[in-house]
Amino acid sequence: MIASHATPLGLSASLRRDPLVLDGRGTPRQLRCRVLQSPLAGVSDRIFRSLVRRWAPDALLFTEMVNATSLELGHGVQKVEELGSESGPIGVQLFDHRPAAMADAARRAEAAGAFLIDINMGCPVKKIARKGGGSGLIRDPHLAARIVEAVAAAVAIPVTVKTRLGWCGSDADPVSWCRQLQDAGAQLLTLHGRTREQGFRGRADWGAIAAVKRALTIPVVANGDVNTPEGALHCLAATGCDGLMVGRGSMGAPWLVGQIDAALSGQPIPPTPGAAERIALAAEQLQALVAAKGDHGLLIARKHMGWTCTGFPGAPQLRHDLMRAPTPAEALALLERARQSL
Ligand SMILES: Cc1cc2nc3c(=O)[nH]c(=O)nc-3n(C[C@H](O)[C@H](O)[C@H](O)COP(=O)(O)O)c2cc1C
Repeated sequence: MIASHATPLGLSASLRRDPLVLDGRGTPRQLRCRVLQSPLAGVSDRIFRSLVRRWAPDALLFTEMVNATSLELGHGVQKVEELGSESGPIGVQLFDHRPAAMADAARRAEAAGAFLIDINMGCPVKKIARKGGGSGLIRDPHLAARIVEAVAAAVAIPVTVKTRLGWCGSDADPVSWCRQLQDAGAQLLTLHGRTREQGFRGRADWGAIAAVKRALTIPVVANGDVNTPEGALHCLAATGCDGLMVGRGSMGAPWLVGQIDAALSGQPIPPTPGAAERIALAAEQLQALVAAKGDHGLLIARKHMGWTCTGFPGAPQLRHDLMRAPTPAEALALLERARQSL
């Protein structure tokens, strides 16, 4: 992409200029950037976040979702405790159906340096929803409210919720559902414009998000199908939201959040990396993952390399070969050969 100035499309001056202030319960936080990187299980690890951070120094980034009960049992501790080494605001996203476990996990995340705690009430995965966590809480608003209250009482940093429009189309009432979360003490709500039943199918309903934004007094962040700076401007204009969150569009494109931040603040949009930079990023991510996780890092790196190595001649063959490279050294050699043949 050629560096350009974005059209502000009627964005309010305050949205471009003023930070979003969340009071918390004693530890207020300011969001200086109106675009958030979504939590992405299996993707938004420390290494991915460090790449996103390169383009978006002020954006709120998230951990992958962390299960509170697992944390209690000593699993996934690293996902929370590694925050201490990172720069910029990072929220910890928690999920569970047990209020007390959520409160304990939130305290632990706060002690580890979380910028805020986000509660996942949108994850559609059956195993999680059936137990009453993630999107399962949409069907039990009373328990959802108890969880928000327990977490908000446990920490001084702000507590936010990320959810969907409802369980299924026929019984979804996003305005009352989100009001209940606000009344329980959520200080910001991120709304993915699909129901649980939809999963990731169809288009995100920005009109339904707009209705929730109009009804709530807390800040609302729009989520779903924002994949470009232009799309971000359209989404904010269509929803009237206080910010937006980007998920799948950033997979393999850690520059996207920074590009959107530039567009929202009327700054020149950083250029989309070309082939050589993409290959270099893929190699960097692979090396970092292998350094952190040994040979298992190669398995995790495969999907990232597959997403990043696109849009240049020879990319399909390179991806094909990378998926089959048996060792990190062979994958790195493939990337190096691809770079030389550009
Ligand atoms: C691979 C993957 C992992 C995800 N993991 C999480 C997660 O851990 N927590 C969460 O709240 N949402 C998660 N989501 C949902 C996204 O955060 C986001 O709400 C959804 O993808 C819609 O936004 P998008 O259209 O920008 O992708 C995940 C989505 C994908 C594709």
